[in-house]
Amino acid sequence: MAFYPLARKMLFALDPERAHDLVINAMAAKQALHQYKLQIHDPVLATQIGRLSLTSPVGLAAGFDKDGRAPLALLGAGFGFVEVGTLTPRAQTGNPKPRLFRLPEDQAVINRLGFNNQGQMAAGPRLTHTIARRDRIRGGRRDVGLIGVNIGANKDSEDRVADYAEGVARFSGIADYLTINISSPNTPRLRDLQSGDALENLLTRVMSARGESAVPIFVKIAPDIDDDALGQLLGQVMRHGVDGLIVSNTTIARPGHLISENAHETGGLSGEPLAPRSRALLGVIARDTQGKLPIISVGGVGSAEEAYARIKAGASAVQLYTALVYKGPTLAGEINRGLAKRLKRDGFSSVTEAVGSDYK
Ligand code: FNR
Repeated sequence: MAFYPLARKMLFALDPERAHDLVINAMAAKQALHQYKLQIHDPVLATQIGRLSLTSPVGLAAGFDKDGRAPLALLGAGFGFVEVGTLTPRAQTGNPKPRLFRLPEDQAVINRLGFNNQGQMAAGPRLTHTIARRDRIRGGRRDVGLIGVNIGANKDSEDRVADYAEGVARFSGIADYLTINISSPNTPRLRDLQSGDALENLLTRVMSARGESAVPIFVKIAPDIDDDALGQLLGQVMRHGVDGLIVSNTTIARPGHLISENAHETGGLSGEPLAPRSRALLGVIARDTQGKLPIISVGGVGSAEEAYARIKAGASAVQLYTALVYKGPTLAGEINRGLAKRLKRDGFSSVTEAVGSDYK
């Protein structure tokens, strides 16, 4: 018997942020090895994001576990990698509530949380401990997933680039990869860092801040970026040796077909209505960069079919968040199983082999 329809009914009766806190608290209390029952062990799911090897291409997107309280339990739910954060150097409370809205008829969410998090000082030691524990588990089991950290800047910071450099320096010896998040629509002027001299300066600083660790660095972009800005950004990230792009964050656009009463709320839209834009952007970037820049596709992924389509369109891996809200904690496992079936049906021996097969 599927339990999530009932659990969802109870969670959806609560304020969305309260429901989310309950789920994270429950998962944080279950940070244990026996949670690994949903991991899928099938070599056909193996993929590479540049230098990173993954045993499954299905990741949990940033924002679900902002403070890194439950990454092991989340890996245990079947994700091949979990991205914690966004973490800013100092703790901040974010925007006034309410700031998180469900759009059930559209299978979507709008958020304007504004990087609420406990800060890097609180998360750092916790993640060091968690990743050491993960490594002990991995000693005997090579198939336990990766933990990345998504880095941001404080809203009131006078030097946001310095905030990013600080985050990179702090987590480069800890995390499996880092994401430079310059695409949240909920911190005023943050997305200005996606272009021109501001991006140039940012990339110079963050790439040198990782020091000798050589930890892979990804840049996460907004779906609302225009073609000119995208072309320039691609040139810049490749010149600076960025290890990959995460495409994309939430959108400030509001497709005309939305029907939920919360559709007019200010903030970033995620889930199914984001899928067409996220898919299109992936296609453009994959064709422009021809496999030279690994891409993680995110935005409206919620099924094996969609994950497989993104991989064939050029994504080395996918991430999701909103679909988890609507489909529940067995989703990653379901996508893994469905993907494995499709890959084998089409004669691929691994995800890596299937990446970009649409245009190759
Ligand atoms: C997010 N997302 C996000 N992204 C990020 O880089 N840092 C963050 O702190 C957050 N926070 C956040 C909160 C909430 C409530 C949502 C729904 C989303 C964006 C997320 O990682 C992802 O890029 C988008 O949600 C698109 O994927 P889905 O949700 O359509 O699968």
